[in-house]
Amino acid sequence: MPRSLLDIDDLTTDELDTVLSRAADLKAHGDGEPLHNQTLGMVFEKPSTRTRVSFETGMTQLGGHAVFLGPDDIHLGHGEPVKDTARAVARYVDFIMARVFDHADVEELAEYATVPVINGLTDDAHPCQTLADLLTIREQFGGFDDVSVAWVGDGNNVCQSFVIGAAMAGIDLTVATPEGYGIDDDVRERAADLGNEPETTNDPEAAVEDADVIYTDVWVSMGQEDQREQKLADFEGFQVDSALVGDRTVMHCLPAHRGEEITDEVLESDNAIVWDQAENRMHAQNGLLTWLAEQE
Ligand code: CP
Ligand code: NVA
Repeated sequence: MPRSLLDIDDLTTDELDTVLSRAADLKAHGDGEPLHNQTLGMVFEKPSTRTRVSFETGMTQLGGHAVFLGPDDIHLGHGEPVKDTARAVARYVDFIMARVFDHADVEELAEYATVPVINGLTDDAHPCQTLADLLTIREQFGGFDDVSVAWVGDGNNVCQSFVIGAAMAGIDLTVATPEGYGIDDDVRERAADLGNEPETTNDPEAAVEDADVIYTDVWVSMGQEDQREQKLADFEGFQVDSALVGDRTVMHCLPAHRGEEITDEVLESDNAIVWDQAENRMHAQNGLLTWLAEQE
């Protein structure tokens, strides 16, 4: 089976370092057209700004192209099973990137596709975001040693991949979520196996006390719109505002819901490095794509 990236720990710690270094090199120098004439199929069950545009422009920069396969464009979800989509699309393209609801669907894609499958966000994981986040932290702080991050907000997909990625990178991490919104046991165990389990708490102020960076994500994720009222009530007290931030650096995967998980003031402040994160999605993915292309 070809190498895929369904979550960040599909890479070894050394491979993660290689992909990040390659991403930084491509960002600094470009590198001809390493994916000349290669095609990325991009399957989307949910909307996207950054993931779509960064993968599509990234493939162009690398000398290849991308095919957008939105929810109304292909049979997936309307009568063609995942495994049939995987086998057919893989006969045309060199890589598949998929943004779907159920994480089991990217696993099935990877099982049946004969090309690498890249997770572009499931309900459980967002490894491409973590690659970009680690690249951004490394640029800002010159490395990962002595960097302390506090996650404040929902402990779902973006948080979970960041927990694993932080464990791999050796970042000190505290995760503050309301009760009932913490990371899965499986994610905690995988971080522990990597020797770097995050601290967890229900107290945002305590979480940020020793942090250099505060990272947050929306409270109402795509597909959770019917839980909106309940989640807004449950996340009261978890807003990242200027009082919580002080002089800390602020990260957000975007899109941001101003007035909910973060204030406009914080997002627009010099503390926020969210546009570097967004740009680094492309460089990180370029590093990943060129690395995947070289694997057996
Ligand atoms: N952060 C991220 O994945 O953004 P999009 O939903 O716009 O792709
Ligand atoms: N947690 C968010 C992340 C979006 C990139 C969601 O799943 O909608």
